Amino acid sequence: MAEAIALAATHIGQTSTNPSVGCVLVSDGEIVGRGVTARSGRPHAETQALAEADEKARGATAYVTLEPCSHHGKTPPCASALIAAGVSRVVIAVTDPDPRVSGNGIRMLREAGITVETGLMEAAAKRGLAAYLTRQTKGRAHVTLKLAVSKDGMLGRRGEGQVRITGTESRETVQHLRAESDAILVGIGTALADDPDLTCRLPGLEARSPVRLVLDRLLLLPPTSKLARTAHKVPVIAVISPDETVRDDAWLTRRAVLQDCGVETLEAASLLDLLQSLASRGMSSLMVEGGARVAEDFLKADLVDRIWLFEGTATVGDAGVASPITPGHMPAGFALVSNETLGEDRLEIFERME
Ligand SMILES: NC(=O)c1ccc[n+]([C@@H]2O[C@H](COP(=O)([O-])OP(=O)(O)OC[C@H]3O[C@@H](n4cnc5c(N)ncnc54)[C@H](OP(=O)(O)O)[C@@H]3O)[C@@H](O)[C@H]2O)c1
Repeated sequence: MAEAIALAATHIGQTSTNPSVGCVLVSDGEIVGRGVTARSGRPHAETQALAEADEKARGATAYVTLEPCSHHGKTPPCASALIAAGVSRVVIAVTDPDPRVSGNGIRMLREAGITVETGLMEAAAKRGLAAYLTRQTKGRAHVTLKLAVSKDGMLGRRGEGQVRITGTESRETVQHLRAESDAILVGIGTALADDPDLTCRLPGLEARSPVRLVLDRLLLLPPTSKLARTAHKVPVIAVISPDETVRDDAWLTRRAVLQDCGVETLEAASLLDLLQSLASRGMSSLMVEGGARVAEDFLKADLVDRIWLFEGTATVGDAGVASPITPGHMPAGFALVSNETLGEDRLEIFERME
């Protein structure tokens, strides 16, 4: 199952709207087939592992991170494929909350005489499936809040644009996290102060940039900003509010200019409403990259599922923008799941306790 989870991890964020699932087939103590949900969502992991194993699938054990599907979607059900291939045992880490599948995949397999076990390494597998599970069970996108905090608890310096808080390893790790996310969000404060482009720039990851969102009810994003200038290449969405009182002639003109740049606008009445809209568009994972006010608002609304807290060695000083969370001062309801060193920095990962 550990191997199946590792396989699933390789395609996280690339299989929308399907989850990235891993499958390993074992016969006589040897791995005879491996599969991971293909990029774009199809074929599924099980059919690929079965194709590799071919005749060796007969009598084998299948380890799957998520319950095999049981419904006829764009492809025939994986439960049927496992039955037809003659596997004798299926071990499942996580049962699928999708009402079309939930329990049905397991029932189909059992009715065909296959031994089915569930719950092996469930917590680890759920971590990789978190975005899919959140969309299925809560009807909203899963939120990872990423913050880089200086030694003195600051996110940046007022009026100074991007301040280097962490080192190269941390910044590369952030790029990988972006590549695993369907969407990325900042507040207009950050867009104006830092002029970020929020793309993946690591070699090989350039095509994996997430959809970029800015909370910008007044549409202050400059058409000359990196975000607006690249909107035709990687989508940019300005999130506006339903409050029509802000929509004066100047606002309408700014909207027309941004639309010409390729910036879309999306109306959301609240952060929850926004996360639900993203989920209905098939976007399961959102990375929130700040700034201070946005981080605070997501935390206050209880809409953060995971926190990636980078602690750098730099000191910002008095003119700093204080972070709403700092190492040792985490909000209640989160558990530390990982703590590692990245060059001279520390990365702590916290998850919401259900
Ligand atoms: N170290 C890091 O990890 C990191 C990451 C990002 C940014 N930063 C730093 O953080 C600083 C910027 O932070 P900031 O607090 O000034 O700005 P910010 O959080 O990026 O943006 C604040 C603005 O976003 C809009 N907004 C926030 N919450 C909203 C909500 N719930 N709904 C709708 N709109 C919302 C508001 O615009 P309206 O007032 O118009 O409603 C608000 O003024 C910069 O210094 C930047 O360098 C650091």
